[in-house]
Amino acid sequence: MQEMNRADLIVGLQWGDEGKGKIVDNLAQKYDYVCRFAGGHNAGHTIVTEGKTYALHLVPSGVLNKKAINVVGNGVVLSPKDFIKELEQFDDIDGRIYISDKAHLLLPYHAEIDQARERLKGDKAIGTTGKGIGPAYGDKITRVGHRVGELLNPEKLCDGIMGYFKINKPIFDAMGVSTPNKEELLAELKEYKEALGSYITDTTLMAWDALDSNKRVLLEGAQGTMLDIDHGTYPYVTSSTTISAGACSGLGIAPHQIGNVIGIAKAYCTRVGNGPFPSEDLGEKGEYLREKGHEFGTTTGRPRRCGWFDAVAMRHAVRLNGVSNISLMKLDVLDGLDEVKVCVGYEFEGKEIDYVPYTLEDIKPIYKSFKGWEKSEGVREFSDLPKEAQDYILELEKLCGAKVGIISTSPDRDDTIIRD
Ligand code: IMP
Repeated sequence: MQEMNRADLIVGLQWGDEGKGKIVDNLAQKYDYVCRFAGGHNAGHTIVTEGKTYALHLVPSGVLNKKAINVVGNGVVLSPKDFIKELEQFDDIDGRIYISDKAHLLLPYHAEIDQARERLKGDKAIGTTGKGIGPAYGDKITRVGHRVGELLNPEKLCDGIMGYFKINKPIFDAMGVSTPNKEELLAELKEYKEALGSYITDTTLMAWDALDSNKRVLLEGAQGTMLDIDHGTYPYVTSSTTISAGACSGLGIAPHQIGNVIGIAKAYCTRVGNGPFPSEDLGEKGEYLREKGHEFGTTTGRPRRCGWFDAVAMRHAVRLNGVSNISLMKLDVLDGLDEVKVCVGYEFEGKEIDYVPYTLEDIKPIYKSFKGWEKSEGVREFSDLPKEAQDYILELEKLCGAKVGIISTSPDRDDTIIRD
């Protein structure tokens, strides 16, 4: 029997911003199809190539590989306005990008609702990106959302949206969310149709065809495992299934058609927004990591919270995603520290535990200390790393239950150690 063609998948193993961009950018050159399956324009990374900088939020990373087809799957929430703006960076996109007709629309009022909710929550705010992600997914789940395919009939879609505002008027008035002007809304929807109409299709059929005809397919995750709606630090999470399983529903691919799962993690840990972060370092070491690692959000510019590698959360992520291989990013940011710590257990309700419980609030981290090293920056062979850095990585493998196959030692594409 002929062996089945499977798609490979890239997933973030922490709270997002693991440096997926560098790996995806590299891998995207080797695939025929690059497919996004979750999230929206809350995600973001920049790619620098041939002296030009591109900011990617919704457009899959295969866009810079002229031969790759880029697919925005049904699991994504798509803001047409932001997507159109993002596409302006590329002049040769026709025939290389497709959007699922089943992806949900994220419209300007979703961002207004998101920001109003955050304001009203006060000190309980999630610290969202304010882009409207939660309200757009909320509308999808409560079955009052609108889908990308509806853009092909703007008049009907406009009526649908005005009906939605009629039902929600008392709540939206109280929240300070404005009702759109019908004529302006219709004009806007017609513009979206004009700009995006030719990209809208049934991407599930496309993905099946690609797999059946032995094309190389890469599934590109957004955000990270600890921001997953079910398995992350709820309610301080995003509103999508960020783990590998999200690719099945977010594209329409069966589980047995997923092959290698490449997990991306930083050699330390960061998070943006509010919510528990057991291994956060609020002292000078955290500040050192932020400055040295340039830990400021790509989408919002917010400073990221920084801390130590959390091996308990990583074991959870490895298991949840079925990670075959970890790519460990930004090892060089730890250079020059006399001590490097790893969280190896939690103190939870008076007990020591080695798993992620339903909440990480009120957790105390248990650390293991490692001797620091002088310099890993720019190293391209594992054996050329300082002995202490090698020991650190070998211990992480044991603690996390997965091989560290790739190690990144600078933002430069070539400063990468390939072990597997
Ligand atoms: P939302 O996705 O905008 O609703 O934000 C929910 C939480 O996810 C907030 O803590 C955000 O900071 C976080 N978040 C959303 N997208 C990203 C990302 O791409 N990287 C890191 N954190 C993110």
